[in-house]
Amino acid sequence: MKAALLVLAFSFAAQAHDVITTKVTFDREIVRLLNAHCNSCHREGGTAFSLATYSAARPWAKAIEEEILTRRMPPWGAVKGFGDFRNDQGLTPEQLELIVDWEEGGAPEGEEKDLPPAPNFPEIAAVQHPASEIIVAGDLKLAQSVTLDGLWPVTVPDNAGFQITAELPDGSIESMLWLQNYKQSFGHPFLFRMPLELPAGTWVRGVPAGAKVALLPVSGSDTTGKLLVPNRRDGLQ
Ligand code: HEC
Repeated sequence: MKAALLVLAFSFAAQAHDVITTKVTFDREIVRLLNAHCNSCHREGGTAFSLATYSAARPWAKAIEEEILTRRMPPWGAVKGFGDFRNDQGLTPEQLELIVDWEEGGAPEGEEKDLPPAPNFPEIAAVQHPASEIIVAGDLKLAQSVTLDGLWPVTVPDNAGFQITAELPDGSIESMLWLQNYKQSFGHPFLFRMPLELPAGTWVRGVPAGAKVALLPVSGSDTTGKLLVPNRRDGLQ
């Protein structure tokens, strides 16, 4: 009984020291941000510990700030700036600032009435690979032209790093994707901001032995795996 009282007194003292110097609250701004960018993974039943409620997220406030400022979270698995992707979930400078303000201002909870309705996260399994995808394993030469919407790692050794480029028939090189610390569990595609047109005779290079990456044609275009001539020269495939 005495011990319990002591613990209570201590936690009171700790809270009294949390001077709140920000108007940003968990219940209003932060939970919405976390729901949109983090909690598809960070929730009960997700792939990482929950950040879905104030009591779950509060002990992680400092770590959250560190992870977003160093861009380790949300995990992307590719070098930024190599290829341009429309589904990059990275936080904007304004969003980074909001989280920093919140953390450094004492990480207040705010008022329950500001909480958004509980979000509905699509199950990972619902994300489908298109039937028209073209699997690349080793260097490949395109026998016909194709317009790509993006790429999707299918089999990638954890923490692998490699650059995928397209060498066009005119000799120019297009950067496509530089995987870096990609984990199979991320399970997301890399969707280009602008469709990438690759003429017949283009070499897709950089997928190492043991890895498989799918090329995603723009939907509606009539392309199948038959279009590809694997590079047998170097025995990759
Ligand atoms: C694709 C799933 C996914 C998303 C989205 C995601 N995380 Fe994570 N996060 C993880 C996993 C898995 C871990 C466990 C550690 C690891 O594997 O790196 C983790 C670990 C962390 C950690 C602990 C790091 C440490 O070890 O100290 C923090 C803090 C964190 N995430 C915050 C965030 C924040 C904030 C966001 C959104 C801006 C976010 N995460 C988005 C999957 C995700």
